[in-house]
Amino acid sequence: MGHVAGELGLSLLWLWLLLCSWGCLGSAELRAPPEKIAIIGAGIGGTSSAYYLRQKFGKDVKIDLFERKEVGGRLATLTVEGQEYEAGGSVIHPLNLHMKRFVKDLGLSTVQASGGLLGVYDGQTLVFEESSWFIMNMIKLVWRYGFQSLRMHMWVEDVLDKFMRIYRYQSHDYAFSSVEKLLHAVGGDDFLGLLNRTLHETLQKAGFSEKFLNEMIAPVMRVNYGQSTDINAFVGAVSLTAADSGLWAVEGGNKLVCSRLLQASKSNLISGSVMYIEKTRTKQTGNPTKMYEVVYQSGSETHSDFYDIVLVATPLNQKMSNITFLNFDPPIEEFHQYYQHIVTTLVKGELNSTVFSSRAKDQFGLSTVLTTDSSDLFINNVGIVSSVREKDSPQPSTDGTYVWKTFSPEVLTKQQIFKLFLSYDYAVKKSWLAYPHYKPPEKCPSIILHDRLYYLNGIEFAASAMEMSAIAAHNAALLAYHRWNGNADMIDQDGLYEKLKTEL
Ligand SMILES: Cc1cc2nc3c(=O)[nH]c(=O)nc-3n(C[C@H](O)[C@H](O)[C@H](O)COP(=O)(O)OP(=O)(O)OC[C@H]3O[C@@H](n4cnc5c(N)ncnc54)[C@H](O)[C@@H]3O)c2cc1C
Ligand SMILES: *[C@@H]1O[C@H](CO)[C@@H](O)[C@H](O)[C@H]1NC(C)=O
Ligand SMILES: *[C@@H]1O[C@H](CO)[C@@H](O)[C@H](O)[C@H]1NC(C)=O
Ligand SMILES: *[C@@H]1O[C@H](CO)[C@@H](O)[C@H](O)[C@H]1NC(C)=O
Repeated sequence: MGHVAGELGLSLLWLWLLLCSWGCLGSAELRAPPEKIAIIGAGIGGTSSAYYLRQKFGKDVKIDLFERKEVGGRLATLTVEGQEYEAGGSVIHPLNLHMKRFVKDLGLSTVQASGGLLGVYDGQTLVFEESSWFIMNMIKLVWRYGFQSLRMHMWVEDVLDKFMRIYRYQSHDYAFSSVEKLLHAVGGDDFLGLLNRTLHETLQKAGFSEKFLNEMIAPVMRVNYGQSTDINAFVGAVSLTAADSGLWAVEGGNKLVCSRLLQASKSNLISGSVMYIEKTRTKQTGNPTKMYEVVYQSGSETHSDFYDIVLVATPLNQKMSNITFLNFDPPIEEFHQYYQHIVTTLVKGELNSTVFSSRAKDQFGLSTVLTTDSSDLFINNVGIVSSVREKDSPQPSTDGTYVWKTFSPEVLTKQQIFKLFLSYDYAVKKSWLAYPHYKPPEKCPSIILHDRLYYLNGIEFAASAMEMSAIAAHNAALLAYHRWNGNADMIDQDGLYEKLKTEL
């Protein structure tokens, strides 16, 4: 009898072990974390990926972050007389929740984006001029455009409202395998349709007038994306949110977010330029999990290392990252996507206001001039800026002059600077391949390039902004994590909005 009871006990134990292993298979904890992850690019996309990957995969995974220039990428400053000014990505919207969160969690502070009065120049005259009296502005706007600016505000609000759903999905750990699926999950077909149409077409259909589009909307697209209203309607809406109040920047420079994220993620910064990513022939390396070899140049030497997971966080084209993919089947081709060339110039001097207005110099109260498409000027905009340390509105230097920032399609010649300024003592510039040249219908490049090889910057073809890179980074980290652990139920889920609405 005792023997039979012993046998029964033993088989129950087996049964229990068996059931447990089944049960555990369904949960996320079974598979050991990856050993090594590579991230290419230490801009906001790469550094926030490092941060989110560390959160998901835990403390033991080794994360290498490759950067060939400076940490920050398109977040960078230029120095004028010892003060730093934002030269790339500069303003952040109050509802950009990831950026807001980073600043709070990383112990950084914020500064308010410079205010001041704005005018719009059409090549002949200022077609719109803000006044310091709020009521007066409303009257001017209504007088010239009826209630279109109010309607415009509501249109933008609606897009933003829907887009904000992404934060809830991400806080519940849901990931998407393509930018289109992500956008569909937040706003359905209507939202995805925004990528297929120009802003112009979309707003025209919604009843906005040509005059309003030319004088109010195009100038905003020109300053934010160096393009006009023929960009896709989604990036158009993102651009219009920059006309909201409460815009901010990081005290000391937006790029500080990147260096702090890098520190907080405890990843290893490698100064080098990645040349190749090669899929290893698994049999030869003997290590079946380390799928990818990253070959990079550091100084004059070429090195390489093996990784389980690779994230590419820089635009994949020859001019910008020049990375070649070897040994992939099907091959990963180069992405032939054109980025807009924009030059940032900072000038410390006195603006020649008669370029824009016949009014006397001391009656020209504007601190920002935007331009229409017809303006035919060599700049897209010009405006007074504060340094990254100024908490309030910009202060003139002791000689009464301000630092002005302009964006232009080409490098300004000395003659051009003298056309805009009565005098100047200092000018510095930085050239960018700044953001995609938008051409709807837009097709966003894939996020999953291969089994465990991910690409973040496809999201820029929906819209390029710091927050968009952070959202792509969070998504890629979640996607890499769920795919590593086989959690198919956390990827590309339908009906998330309804599902999470009841879950508070
Ligand atoms: C002039 C300008 C104004 C802007 N204004 C705003 C704004 O006001 N608000 C806003 O939200 N956004 C703005 N943006 C957009 C915003 O700056 C970008 O969307 C964002 O910074 C992109 O970040 P990223 O990390 O995806 O790419 P990047 O910042 O470009 O980072 C990629 C990094 O990868 C590195 N790299 C590339 N190839 C290799 C390689 N082979 N090996 C190693 N390293 C490599 C690069 O050196 C770079 O540092 C602006 C951009 C510009 C240029
Ligand atoms: C957008 O256009 C593409 C073709 O360019 C088409 O396949 C897709 O269905 C369109 N999507 C929407 C939501 O209209
Ligand atoms: C791209 O990289 C290849 C080698 O990896 C090099 O020969 C070529 O000059 C590079 N091109 C650019 C535009 O940097
Ligand atoms: C200022 O600009 C106006 C208009 O372009 C020009 O006529 C004038 O000569 C400029 N003034 C100076 C001092 O350069």
